[in-house]
Amino acid sequence: MTKLEQIKAAEARLLVHTYDRNPLLFTSGEGVYVINEQGERYLDLLSGIGVNALGYANPVIENAIARQSKKLIHISNLYFHEGQAELALRLTELTGMDRAFFCNSGTEAWEGALKLARAHAGILRSEGKQIGTKFLALEHSFHGRTYGSMATTHKAKYREPFAPVMPGVEFVRLNDVADLRAKFSNEVCAILVESIQGEGGVRPLTQEFFAEARKLASSTGALLIADEIQAGMGRTGKWCGYQHYGIQPDITTLAKPLAGGLPLGAILCTEEVARSFHAGLHGTTFGGGPLACAVGIAVVDAMENDGMLDKVTATGEYFMEKLRGLAGKHEAIVDVRGKGLMIAAELDSADLAKKTVAEMLKRKILINCTSDTVLRFLPPYILERAHVDAAIAALDEIFTEHAAAGQFSTGQAASTGGH
Ligand SMILES: Cc1ncc(COP(=O)(O)O)c(C=O)c1O
Repeated sequence: MTKLEQIKAAEARLLVHTYDRNPLLFTSGEGVYVINEQGERYLDLLSGIGVNALGYANPVIENAIARQSKKLIHISNLYFHEGQAELALRLTELTGMDRAFFCNSGTEAWEGALKLARAHAGILRSEGKQIGTKFLALEHSFHGRTYGSMATTHKAKYREPFAPVMPGVEFVRLNDVADLRAKFSNEVCAILVESIQGEGGVRPLTQEFFAEARKLASSTGALLIADEIQAGMGRTGKWCGYQHYGIQPDITTLAKPLAGGLPLGAILCTEEVARSFHAGLHGTTFGGGPLACAVGIAVVDAMENDGMLDKVTATGEYFMEKLRGLAGKHEAIVDVRGKGLMIAAELDSADLAKKTVAEMLKRKILINCTSDTVLRFLPPYILERAHVDAAIAALDEIFTEHAAAGQFSTGQAASTGGH
């Protein structure tokens, strides 16, 4: 039995079954590559689902962990430590927000944002304003797996087995301004968006829709909340996806790459919204600990020092241009979209999308498929053109083989029909 087979058998016996893992045992990483137990290198175009933005074995992250772990790893939020205010200063400046709350994951940040919105509406009501408790979320949204996040996540398969989920959520058709207007009222305490939907298939909001959401929310005192957990922290070439639109939400959430692979999430909000919480109303044991914050500061500094946003924009444009070239050649690619290094190639069939991920894996390139037909690329920001070229060559080969097989089977069907 190989080590992988042993681990597979042990997990099958010991873990609650929630993941269908690829049969790969990764033991280390270097730059844009992850390395398996046999020392084989895989080009990682997924970066741990948008987390390992600065790549593997990055000395900036290693040194920050080493330095801070020798000083203080955890202290709880009952005491001060050096990291939170410093990271909050950096993040608020970069995102146009005023205040931060730190937690451990994306879904936890989103839960906190929902609580903040309900508490904010409560304060407005106590001041005599007419405002309800309803959330407007978007079709194709994904906000996480805990109860509030799940309730505001569109796909029924994520919600229904856990019913009853949190009530008071209505879904609006993505980018349908008329539907948004029709469903918005004084009952709404917040409109919930991802500037570019991630799990939903890398679908950006239109300028018109985002602007309308901002306008409607402001008209009643409701909040506009942008989930930037996947699109944020430089992924799209700006610190937050909403900055492409020139629209400022009242609350935003960050997580994934924030602490270079350590769990760290953040809620960022305006001064006006922040007054909705007071001591004791929200909290966490681990959130914003000294280790995660020290690494978060190092990540932000490294991104700024290395001009990372410009690199993401340039490499992303190159990647999309190459994908569009492929789309011109292969009919199976029906759309190419994205921003920066949050990129999708939509295919004409779910079966082909699944096969393409598997074929890429055989060629030692990691990608994934979301929303059934969408190949998603979330590579590390340090990706170079040569890596893009390698991925494009592999995709070209796969689609060429697919087309050839299709022609063959169509030919067969035609000749069978002829008999
Ligand atoms: C937009 C968005 N929000 C929330 C989440 C949930 O984050 P986490 O898995 O860290 O709880 C994700 C995860 O993919 C996400 O993409």
